Amino acid sequence: MGTDTKAHMGGDKPDREEGQGGGPGEEALAAAVARWIRPEIRVLSAYRVPDAADLIKLDAMENPYAWPPELVEEWLEVLRRVSLNRYPDAAARGLRRRLRQVFQIPADKEILLGNGSDELIQLLILAVAAPGRKVLAPEPAFSMYRMITIFCGLEYVGVPLRADFALDREAMLAALDEHQPAVVFLDYPNNPSGRLFSEADVRAVIEAAPGLVVVDEAYHSFAGASFMAALQEYPHLLILRTLSKMGLAGLRLGLLVGDRAWLREIDKIRLPYNVNVLTQESADFALRHREVLEAQAAAIRRDRAVLQDALAALPGVAVYPSRANFILFRVPAGRSGHIFQALREAGVLVKHLHRDEGLLRDCLRVTVGTPDENRAFLEALREALAVHGAQPGAGNDPRNA
Ligand SMILES: Cc1ncc(COP(=O)(O)O)c(C=O)c1O
Repeated sequence: MGTDTKAHMGGDKPDREEGQGGGPGEEALAAAVARWIRPEIRVLSAYRVPDAADLIKLDAMENPYAWPPELVEEWLEVLRRVSLNRYPDAAARGLRRRLRQVFQIPADKEILLGNGSDELIQLLILAVAAPGRKVLAPEPAFSMYRMITIFCGLEYVGVPLRADFALDREAMLAALDEHQPAVVFLDYPNNPSGRLFSEADVRAVIEAAPGLVVVDEAYHSFAGASFMAALQEYPHLLILRTLSKMGLAGLRLGLLVGDRAWLREIDKIRLPYNVNVLTQESADFALRHREVLEAQAAAIRRDRAVLQDALAALPGVAVYPSRANFILFRVPAGRSGHIFQALREAGVLVKHLHRDEGLLRDCLRVTVGTPDENRAFLEALREALAVHGAQPGAGNDPRNA
């Protein structure tokens, strides 16, 4: 796999690298790969993270704003003093202190840092991995819950959300009882729908879960809700956060918060120095200037409402209300591929989520960009719908999903 590829379950086209195909020894090599690489890994296909060069990039829930030039200068001054010849502080003490203060983390709870929250999901699943163990999450949810579960050799249980992407409380409780999962992941808000599950439903799941429950608050800056305070009520609850969506995706920093008894064990699996010195210093600097990031998040929340209304006014488009920095929308039946491609040709990259089965039929997801980017996206979508068939009211009502 190249550096810009990610393993992926089905759906997308396999990534064909140059040089594949039958030379001498190829068969023996294929047999060796088949013998030693686990079958559940071999059935995964890889897809290239799309090249977004020259495109308006609205596919990955990034914050579209740069820092003001004075702030960039100040940051570069900080980096000038960093000793690249030394290993980073393995415990990242200074950064953890800063995060504790900024995210109001209860004094008696511990923080574990990861190279993105992806890594923390992996560490947690590795810590519970044993034959027959299961991980459970709603379906659809952040795709790495499933992927990492499979990488680590556990069984994944996806419990379908309701047609409006609310948690199906009864189905969740029945699945918890039947499968006894070691870990439950709840993305709050949910990716890809943007739906914030009801607090009562989340509490019902936490209270019924036999193992750990992770409430993944990746989109916390845009949600206006959190389970951080509920850590005091539920000793088996962990909160996952990331700095990616608030404007620091390039740094790769995630944090897992919870009782020391859990995190002490998970920390044993963490590779030393997993958070590099440039990330530690840059994140600490950014959080000292968090008013800039907070103002950007406020602009994104404001523009989300504008974009949501504009999408809802387009004939043939159904929009799902979002508490994140992206919006899920549905286009007329069978048209999502054409519309995705037309958007791309018009210079706008969104995420094509359509699957033949399940709730994401005919769905696309757009990240909230700058006002100019949002306007360009809407213009391109309007044209794409005109060409590829807007069918007002036909098969695109979220309640019929
Ligand atoms: C719900 C959720 N959790 C975690 C992540 C991963 O974030 P990170 O950049 O910290 O690995 C994402 C990224 O899309 C996400 O949607």
